[in-house]
Amino acid sequence: MATRKLFSVLFLQLIMFVVLLLVLNPAYAHESLKVGFYEKSCPEAEAIVKKVMVETLSKAPTLAAPLIRMHFHDCFVRGCDGSVLLRSSTNQAEKDFVSNLNLRGFQIIDRVKSALEKACPGVVSCADILALVARDATATIKGPSWEVETGRKDGRVSSEIEAHENLLPPTANITRLIRSFQERGLSIKDLAVLSGAHTVGTSHCYSFNDRLYNFTGKGDTDPNMDPNYIKRLKKKCKPGDNTTLVEMNPGNFKTFDEDYYTLVAKRRGLFQSDAALLDNAETKSYVKLQAATGGSTFFDDFGVSMVKMGRIGVLTGKAGEIRKQCSKVNK
Ligand code: HEM
Ligand SMILES: *[C@@H]1O[C@H](CO)[C@@H](O)[C@H](O)[C@H]1NC(C)=O
Ligand SMILES: *[C@@H]1O[C@H](CO)[C@@H](O)[C@H](O)[C@H]1NC(C)=O
Ligand SMILES: *[C@@H]1O[C@H](CO)[C@@H](O)[C@H](O)[C@H]1NC(C)=O
Repeated sequence: MATRKLFSVLFLQLIMFVVLLLVLNPAYAHESLKVGFYEKSCPEAEAIVKKVMVETLSKAPTLAAPLIRMHFHDCFVRGCDGSVLLRSSTNQAEKDFVSNLNLRGFQIIDRVKSALEKACPGVVSCADILALVARDATATIKGPSWEVETGRKDGRVSSEIEAHENLLPPTANITRLIRSFQERGLSIKDLAVLSGAHTVGTSHCYSFNDRLYNFTGKGDTDPNMDPNYIKRLKKKCKPGDNTTLVEMNPGNFKTFDEDYYTLVAKRRGLFQSDAALLDNAETKSYVKLQAATGGSTFFDDFGVSMVKMGRIGVLTGKAGEIRKQCSKVNK
C-alpha cells in the first residue's frame, strides 16, 4: 500500500517536471498564431477592422480585390510580416517592384490601423491587419468568410529584390507554380483553390498581351487560349498597351464567386498561370469539379487555404514588432 502511494507521488512529480520543462523550453514557449489572439488585449479589434472595411467597400467596391491580393503578396515575400506595406527608405522596398506597383488600397490599411491605434495603441500588428482585411474584403463581396488566426508581428525589412525573387509572374508554368507553393508549405490543392481569387478584380493588358500577339516571339497567339476569347481581348488590348484594365471575370468582376473555374475550364483564364492549372492532373480535376458543380467546395476550401497561406513565415512572440505606422518601421 505504502509503496503504491509513493509511486503515484513520484509519478505526479515526474509529470510536473516534464510539463515545467516544456513550458520553460524556448522551443515550446514561443507563441503561435491562434484565432482570437486579441480577445483580451483588444477585444474590439476584429469588429473595428470589419466596420472600416464595410464602410470603405460600400463606397469603393473595387478595392476588395487588390486588398485580397495584398495579403498574398505579403505572405509570399519574407512571410506574412507586413513587409509589403513598408515604403522605401535606404533601399528599394517590395512596394516598388513592378508586380506591386498595381497594388491598391494602402490608404485603407492606414485607415484601419489608425482606428485600431485609437482603440488599443501598439497592440495590433499590420501583418494581422492584412489577414483580417483580406477575409473581410472577401466576405463583403459575397465570398466566403473564415476564422482568421492572429498573433503575427511585423518585420523590419522589405526589399524589392526579394519581391522580384519570390512573386510569381503571370507567365509561370505549372512546375514553377507548384514548386513555389510547396516551398511555402502550401499544397497543389492550395494552388488550385487560391488561384480562384482571380474571380474578382482587374488586370492590365500587359500582364497577358503576349498571349494575344507574340506568344513565342513570332507574332503568334497562345494555343492554350480559346481563339474566340483572344478575339474579344484583342479588341480591348492593343499591342504595347500599358494602361487599359480588363475584368478578370468579364461582366462579374466585383462579386466573389466560382466563375473562375468555369472560365479556366473553357480555356478563358487570363494568365498563363491560370491556364497552367489544366496541365497537372490534380489542379485540372479541381478546376473541372468546381466548374461542373457550381463551385461545390470552393468557398470552404478558400477559407482553409487562406488560413494556411496566412501562416507562411510568420513572426510571433518576441520576434518582430508592432509597427506604429504600417508604412514605416518603429524608431
Ligand atoms: C498563382 C500565382 C498567381 C499569379 C501568377 C498571379 C498574377 C496576377 C496578375 C498578373 C494580376 C494582374 C495584375 C495587373 O495587371 O494589374 C493578378 C491580379 C489579382 N490577383 Fe493574382 N496571381 C496569382 C495568385 C493569386 C492569389 C493566390 C491571390 C489571392 C489569394 C490572387 C489575387 C489576385 C486578385 C484579387 C487580383 C485582382 C487585383 C486587382 O483588381 O487589382 N492572385 N494576379
Ligand atoms: C517551367 O519554367 C521553368 C522556369 O521558371 C523552366 O526552367 C522549365 O523548363 C519550365 N518547364 C516547362 C515544362 O516548360
Ligand atoms: C515579338 O517578340 C520578339 C522576340 O521577343 C521581338 O523581337 C518582336 O519585336 C516582337 N514583336 C512584336 C510585334 O512585339
Ligand atoms: C509601355 O511601357 C514600355 C516599358 O515601360 C515602353 O517601352 C512602351 O513604350 C510603352 N508603350 C506605350 C504604348 O506607352
